[in-house]
Amino acid sequence: MRHFFLCFCICLALGYCFGVVGTESLSEARSLYDHLFQNYSQKLLPVLNQSHLVQVNVSLNLVSITDFDEISGELIVVAYLTLIWIDEQLCWETQQFGGKSSLVVFPEDVWTPKLSLIYPFQSTQWLGDGSAHIRIYANGFVSWFYGEVISALCSYDTTFYPFDSQSCKLELTTLGWTSTEVKLESPVNNVYLNYYIENDEWSLTQSIVESYSVQELSFICFTLKLKRKPQFPLIYIIGPVILLGGLNYWIILLPDDSGERVSCAMTVFLSFSVYMSIISNNMPKSSDPVSYIYYYLLLLMLLSGTIVILLIVSSILHKKVDSSLVPVYIKYVVWIFRLKFLRKQKNRVSHLDDSKTEDLSNDGTIPEKHRTDTNSSQVGKAEKVSPDTFYAECSWSLVASTFDLSFFVIFGISHTLITVTYLVILFRNMTVY
Ligand SMILES: *[C@@H]1O[C@H](CO)[C@@H](O)[C@H](O)[C@H]1NC(C)=O
Ligand SMILES: *[C@@H]1O[C@H](CO)[C@@H](O)[C@H](O)[C@H]1NC(C)=O
Ligand SMILES: *[C@@H]1O[C@H](CO)[C@@H](O)[C@H](O)[C@H]1NC(C)=O
Repeated sequence: MRHFFLCFCICLALGYCFGVVGTESLSEARSLYDHLFQNYSQKLLPVLNQSHLVQVNVSLNLVSITDFDEISGELIVVAYLTLIWIDEQLCWETQQFGGKSSLVVFPEDVWTPKLSLIYPFQSTQWLGDGSAHIRIYANGFVSWFYGEVISALCSYDTTFYPFDSQSCKLELTTLGWTSTEVKLESPVNNVYLNYYIENDEWSLTQSIVESYSVQELSFICFTLKLKRKPQFPLIYIIGPVILLGGLNYWIILLPDDSGERVSCAMTVFLSFSVYMSIISNNMPKSSDPVSYIYYYLLLLMLLSGTIVILLIVSSILHKKVDSSLVPVYIKYVVWIFRLKFLRKQKNRVSHLDDSKTEDLSNDGTIPEKHRTDTNSSQVGKAEKVSPDTFYAECSWSLVASTFDLSFFVIFGISHTLITVTYLVILFRNMTVY
């Protein structure tokens, strides 16, 4: 094996000296280069009849979506571009040059279609400024394969965050050449994904390639349809917000004497604003359209704010115990809320009794009037409570606890309705894509 290798090396060296390496020699390659580039001008269109156009086939090989900044709308992708065109000046007979069928040259040696991005993120970006080599073939085909970090602008729609999908366009054109001189074409209608590395946050659902001419410019457009992977935002934002909203109305059930209800509700209210700022830090501050999550949060904050106010009112009511008479219209409302017109008195009375003794024991004093009221109401068991009996026994503590209980139910239902509506909107959008 070693002998064979040595022999090969000697042959190679000899071949080099006598100008014969394989079938092609250096001198042949040099004469080919001279033949091709003696009268070549890379400033002119590579067609013999200058009124013909050059068709350039462009394909994109996506490597990765490096970054997609929601706030600024910057999309950074790493991709390889393959450009293939025919240079009519660069044709040769392979037999004349020792069978050499292709040659590698520098981009500055030959005419190249310089592409530029129509919607760059910062400055106009010319693609293919690197020093990637170009391969030219005997039949005039020229192939240019180069890698590029493309930073494009992509408008952002977060209406259905976190189930949003974005469609980003990488539009390329040959600035300076009109569509009658250079025409960009796509040999395939999607982006190649041979080297693609999946992004953590976005999944590529679809890619479309189109070529068209607008106002004498030839364009090729690579559309990337991206879909957000929703697991993280669901766990990090949506889940806690729903839980927080659920927590919110349970505060109403806290016994009033703990005196912590208002501050507890206030804490939940503030947590919502913390979440509001977390979300707005992660999303564009777009007013058109506004994401549904903001509406959802706003509704929850409204509920939360209302709960704070109601708890203040409720603690005033609790403090009011028996010092004054309850107005008739409030008694009527309480009668309605306690569903007295539906239920039997039996159950109600025991409940009423409990709440009353509880309240009175807090207060310390047991007014005579109430005791008699309770006794008198216990006489008429197993009958529907008539408004009159009920009115007689209705005290402020009953008003307060009715108030708490009804708002617990109302807020529980509202929170459930709002959350279900929000989730239905989100999930319906999810199935669309
Ligand atoms: C280049 O141009 C010169 C003069 O115009 C001509 O003599 C020569 O043959 C041309 N070479 C090639 C390779 O066309
Ligand atoms: C160049 O092409 C145009 C259109 O195809 C044709 O009319 C013209 O005669 C051609 N010129 C030459 C010198 O071949
Ligand atoms: C470009 O692609 C089209 C369609 O696949 C093909 O017919 C044409 O020959 C290609 N042109 C070049 C220069 O490769």
